[in-house]
Amino acid sequence: MTATSRMPPGERTHDVGICLATDDDVPAMAELLGVLFRIESDFAPDAEKQREGLRLLLRSSSARAWVARRGGRVVGMVTLQTVVSTAEGAAAGILEDLVVAPEFRRCGIGGALLEAAMDYARASGIGRIQLLADADNEPALDFYRALDWKPTNLVALRRRIGQKI
Ligand SMILES: CC(C)(COP(=O)(O)OP(=O)(O)OC[C@H]1O[C@@H](n2cnc3c(N)ncnc32)[C@H](O)[C@@H]1OP(=O)(O)O)[C@@H](O)C(=O)NCCC(=O)NCCS
Repeated sequence: MTATSRMPPGERTHDVGICLATDDDVPAMAELLGVLFRIESDFAPDAEKQREGLRLLLRSSSARAWVARRGGRVVGMVTLQTVVSTAEGAAAGILEDLVVAPEFRRCGIGGALLEAAMDYARASGIGRIQLLADADNEPALDFYRALDWKPTNLVALRRRIGQKI
């Protein structure tokens, strides 16, 4: 199988490793974020911004990023940032940037990336993880549903600071 060939759906992840991301992974991760931000209508891909954001995140003590590697290639990623939740009276996690390269989907990699983030959360006293998903992103919503993530009654609002909206 070449690096770009499609894994048969259902073939599991025995030759895919999940590990913490390093600076060397930033270019490949920025490419994956380009795939993600082309799907999400609230965001626009900008490779330089994604590289800068990833470098900031990797330097932050309250953030972690994981990559899925197969044969030396980064084929998936996820990030988790810790905030304080007054509702929980404890740390909570914001999960973002979950994306698997299209030709490696439905092989358990997305689920394995979520598990890595949840293992870290359990070990760090994080009581709840939450994420935002595009309301039109049915495959992602099906994925989260299948893995027992629950929808909330919250809506996302945003306001830009220091520039025109
Ligand atoms: C969402 C995403 C990360 C899932 O990654 P993945 O590696 O394909 O997911 P998994 O193989 O671990 O799937 C686990 C289960 O979720 C469900 N699932 C995953 N993708 C699905 C889809 N497209 N349709 C329906 N169910 C799906 C299935 O129940 C699957 O188990 P199965 O394959 O044994 O039936 C991947 O589709 C992706 O990168 N999408 C584009 C980026 C994106 O939308 N990210 C989420 C942003 S909020």
